[in-house]
Amino acid sequence: MGTTMKIGIVGKGGVGKTTTSSLLARALVGRGRRVLAVDTDSNPNLGLSLGLGAEATEALEPIPRSMVVGRRGDMTVAELMDDFAVLTPEGVTLMSALRVDEAGAGCTCGGHASVRSLLGEALHSETDDTIVDMEAGIEHLSRSGGTLAHADVLVLMMEPSRKAIITAQRTIGLAADLGITRCVGVGNRVDDEEARRALEEMCSEHGVPLDVIIPSNSTLAEADRRGQPLGRDAAPEVWSAIDTLVDRLELSAEVLAPR
Ligand SMILES: Nc1ncnc2c1ncn2[C@@H]1O[C@H](COP(=O)(O)OP(=O)(O)O)[C@@H](O)[C@H]1O
Ligand SMILES: [Mg+2]
Repeated sequence: MGTTMKIGIVGKGGVGKTTTSSLLARALVGRGRRVLAVDTDSNPNLGLSLGLGAEATEALEPIPRSMVVGRRGDMTVAELMDDFAVLTPEGVTLMSALRVDEAGAGCTCGGHASVRSLLGEALHSETDDTIVDMEAGIEHLSRSGGTLAHADVLVLMMEPSRKAIITAQRTIGLAADLGITRCVGVGNRVDDEEARRALEEMCSEHGVPLDVIIPSNSTLAEADRRGQPLGRDAAPEVWSAIDTLVDRLELSAEVLAPR
């Protein structure tokens, strides 16, 4: 597979964006890809899921706000990665775009602008795939914000709840306005057949794709509680769902290549 992918992970709060971002990033590394993961949460914790540890995750310096990335901008992609990215123990390179340390420190739009600029660059000299773990909500898909304006594909994270699916439905509309037409739907924390059926029905009612189902898994939840990455041999049902997600993403990239 020659194409690079710029993937935005989006959805309602608590549906599993950070968890899935970390697993997807690791699965891509497992397929021999260089992966850059960008944490855009103002309360960043993707580092924990990638095995970086609490202290190093805390110490990770966010990229400068409102910067223009590129040869004619403030910093090239290579410089940005040299200065602000760390290689995590699972082989994923991590960058933090936002951190709110002080009360009243102002809005985070500048951090989002930097991510937008980064994604607008050709990244293939530095990384194969870029995964942006988005802050909850859909504000940053709006035309004015447009953090993900240059993303190739969105992963719509959902749980079996109508609110999560309506959020995904709204996201598809906003993404289309930004010119992003590729959306892969992922149902997460699906407990049983009944939950799966309910999820399928709601998705079809709201016109939301459902491509991958990740089961509810206590080993995954426990690893997260301990602040550790999920073992490669733990929770095979979860890893198998993530593999399916990688296949779906690669397939949609191939169908639409070359970009
Ligand atoms: N498939 C799953 N099975 C069990 N627990 C999960 C699963 N996916 C996520 N979780 C748990 O749900 C919580 C929210 O997940 P997180 O990835 O932080 O969501 P988000 O980033 O969307 O806010 C975490 O405690 C996580 O461990
Ligand atoms: Mg999160």
